[in-house]
Amino acid sequence: MSIVVMWVHLLAVIAWMGGMMFVLFVLRPVMGRSGFSSQSGQLLKRIDGRFRTIRWTSIMIILMTGFFNLLYEGGTEKIESGWGVVLLVKILFAAIAMGLTGINDFVLNSPSVHAISEHPTRSSKWLGDIVLVLTLFVLFMAVYLSRS
Ligand code: HEM
Repeated sequence: MSIVVMWVHLLAVIAWMGGMMFVLFVLRPVMGRSGFSSQSGQLLKRIDGRFRTIRWTSIMIILMTGFFNLLYEGGTEKIESGWGVVLLVKILFAAIAMGLTGINDFVLNSPSVHAISEHPTRSSKWLGDIVLVLTLFVLFMAVYLSRS
């Protein structure tokens, strides 16, 4: 059972982080090229709407499976060691990344704001990039945890 839960945890992580990397390395560069400027706002809006659902489904799954994984951790001795501290920092970074995603989706790009401007603002792009960097750190910590 715990293997299946870990598999689902990883799937959700892949969906969330993969989506962010697709936007950064594929979508934005292609949309930035001339020739797309007239349709890019509409298209970005539709793509973001679709990805928003995937993103929040993934975040909910990561949280549920993450807490389930915690139940299967190897006892208080491990949790109270340096390993436990790294786990705590991992969860803290993940929580910050999720919180910033919430600010981006529901404050900076709430549906009403989106109706006015179809293009994401500069601060919204920055926040998205910060979230990606944070999740990369979280991933590094997860690899460290699995190896020690
Ligand atoms: C950006 C968010 C997250 C990423 C990228 C991530 C990534 C990962 C990865 C790659 C693993 C597998 C490590 C292995 O091979 O054993 C893992 C395991 C785990 N995750 Fe997450 N995770 C995230 C969020 C969370 C959250 C929010 C929690 C807790 C609520 C959590 C709790 C755990 C636990 C307890 C394990 C098992 C640790 C171990 O025994 O090695 N994760 N995570």
